[in-house]
Amino acid sequence: MFYQGITKAEIINVSNRLPVKIGKKIEKSTGGLVTAFEDIRDHYNIKWVGWSGSVINDQEKRDVLCKQLESENCIPVFLTKKEVSEYYHLFSNSSLWPLLHYFIAYSSYEQDWFNTYQNVNQKFAEVVAEMAQENGIVWVHDFHLMLFPKILKEMRPDLKIGFFLHTPFPSCDVFRCHPSRNELLLGLLGADLIGFHTFGYLRHFRSTILRILGIDSEIDAIQHQDRKISIGVFPIGISWKSFDKTMHSAKYESCLKRYGKNYEGKKVVLSVERLDYTKGIPEKLKAIDRYLAAHPDMHEKVVFVLIAIPSREKVECNRAIEEQVVKQISYINGKYSTINNIPVQFIFKSIKKPDLCALYSIADAALVTPLCDGMNLVAKEYIACQKDKAGVLILSEFAGAAQELFNAIIINPYDTDIFVQRIHEAISLSQENAQAMIKSMKENVIENSSENWARKFLESLTDVNNDSDFQITTDCLSTEDRHKLDRATNVVFFLDYDGTLREFENNPDTAYPTNEIFDILNHITSKKGREIYIISGRCKEDLENWFSGFNCTLIAEHGFFWKYVKDEKWQSFKEQVDLSWKREIFKILKHYALSTPGSFIEDKIASVVWHFRNSDPEFGESKARLLVDELSAMTAKMPIIVQHGKKIVEVCSQYINKGESLKYVLSNGSCDVIVCAGDDSTDEHMFQVDNSKVISIKIGKGETSAKYRFTTPSKFRNLLRELASTSG
Ligand code: UDP
Ligand code: G6P
Repeated sequence: MFYQGITKAEIINVSNRLPVKIGKKIEKSTGGLVTAFEDIRDHYNIKWVGWSGSVINDQEKRDVLCKQLESENCIPVFLTKKEVSEYYHLFSNSSLWPLLHYFIAYSSYEQDWFNTYQNVNQKFAEVVAEMAQENGIVWVHDFHLMLFPKILKEMRPDLKIGFFLHTPFPSCDVFRCHPSRNELLLGLLGADLIGFHTFGYLRHFRSTILRILGIDSEIDAIQHQDRKISIGVFPIGISWKSFDKTMHSAKYESCLKRYGKNYEGKKVVLSVERLDYTKGIPEKLKAIDRYLAAHPDMHEKVVFVLIAIPSREKVECNRAIEEQVVKQISYINGKYSTINNIPVQFIFKSIKKPDLCALYSIADAALVTPLCDGMNLVAKEYIACQKDKAGVLILSEFAGAAQELFNAIIINPYDTDIFVQRIHEAISLSQENAQAMIKSMKENVIENSSENWARKFLESLTDVNNDSDFQITTDCLSTEDRHKLDRATNVVFFLDYDGTLREFENNPDTAYPTNEIFDILNHITSKKGREIYIISGRCKEDLENWFSGFNCTLIAEHGFFWKYVKDEKWQSFKEQVDLSWKREIFKILKHYALSTPGSFIEDKIASVVWHFRNSDPEFGESKARLLVDELSAMTAKMPIIVQHGKKIVEVCSQYINKGESLKYVLSNGSCDVIVCAGDDSTDEHMFQVDNSKVISIKIGKGETSAKYRFTTPSKFRNLLRELASTSG
């Protein structure tokens, strides 16, 4: 819920920088994030935690600053010189930033930087953990604080933590190059909601956690350990309110007049960006050079106003770009300047908002052409500032904003010929066409304001884990069933192995039972009237090797064979089963194994299994779906069942399944209750057996007919441990 009644909900907003500039005086900053939060202050009580922005070692000075910032609801995090260098300049700006923007060759790494990054994330988390109300809401921003969610979640599991990434999330093949990729991903997974600007970034994130951490996800959620993490797309906007206000100010009007006069009779093409190698300034200058070469008639009629805001000048690659840009500009101006016009006007400093808005309003075109950019607010600001006379936006397809502003002229900034052509078209476009292009985009920009962005994210964060889907993940039995179990004289535990008692391993041979599992099982069977069946799809040999010293009954190959562990021979539930279909099925599976690298076939007595656990996860899943379709078409003529399990497709006789084994035990035994647990589709046969003695438990996610769900094998083992100590 957005409105929280009379008391406003407290939000702790956490970002690298505070929303204020700390100099002689404390002044409010003007960035997109800052204005977004200004606009929602009426509804939320916002506290902001961030770095003080400079190194302050003196405790007295620190205390004074804390006091001053109190009235702004800001809580500073103080960093040492070493921390600023290694956490901010080096790890954040020289290791993560280039990688997140696909500049792998610019990304460097030292373990020490990472250690400091970790310590600083810890520092931030400690400040928040100390001040947050119980069950409070914390929203943390951007690549500087990727470890923060996990650290804070461990300290304060009660808090709802949202993380928003303001940069792109690159493809897995790029992200995987980072030496700390696992820690960074696990750090993010401490959050309850993770937001991205575009669907593309979300898609990359899902594929990265799948490939690097082996964690599967849905389009809007990730089940990790015993937690559900929501993921979503929240494209940030601009503060329309704040731009509209500036455009109604006297300062804006006076700038408008001044600049209008200044550029009278000339076409103005504007660029505004931080001087950063991701912004594609050299590529833009290359296109400007070519444009001027191709259009000598424009040398006195066009001015390219290039506003570059100095940024992260300690980053070597930015200094190199600065040198290159300065050279290119002086070359272009040397070549094309006349007494009446200098074609590129380079302003290498920040300008004030009324000046910026006036320039946006009078510019005939804007060149927003980054090589890679999370969103790019300048594109949206330019659209917002178009009034009676509409300009034309030339926008790089590599800016997140291109996903929304599709009525702009979209270009590939590396394609110089087309770039030049589009500049010419933009400058020559009729007012009517320019107006039409701007109109729909402007509505979109006003509607999707930064205020709405912040509200939507916070609403989603507040609602996280309140949905009914999550409610079925109970991780406990009802009191009634617990009593039933405690009172029962004879209880049978019918337990699947992989994914139920034991977590999966990439190599199934190494998923042997741990001492913990043996302890629990021994504990249960040491009680009178408690009996265990291990029912697995595994072959006889695996079960026998692992459980021979233990008092239980083993059922192998989904119910084809069984034996009390101390018996000598295995028996079949059904003696005469037609297995003649195996040869043909084997051939089909062989074809899939050969065409899917990493996959292999397991040939059991009563079934054949295609395993793709070690294949590319997405490729493996899609091949599995094809295989299931192909095999399902054959089930009419063969007595088989096709089961799409976890990273396997298994074909077995239709006369054999775990449900049949359960029925057999129910009809031949004298138990009062059967606890029957499993994790995949092969176990559903047991869950579908309709008998009041059965307490069915599904482990993990996915649709199920079971009565209960336990999120992980470890949670389920906890239940068994409890049952072993309290019942019988
Ligand atoms: N901007 C600024 N000073 C200026 C000109 C512009 O701070 O002199 C602002 C601009 O209005 C925009 C922001 O800088 O809001 C740049 O944000 P963008 O999303 O385009 O790129 P980023 O800097 O986040 O990479
Ligand atoms: C990008 C980042 C922001 C950052 C801003 C300015 O937009 O995504 O997190 O605040 O650049 O960078 P700076 O290093 O000057 O804080």
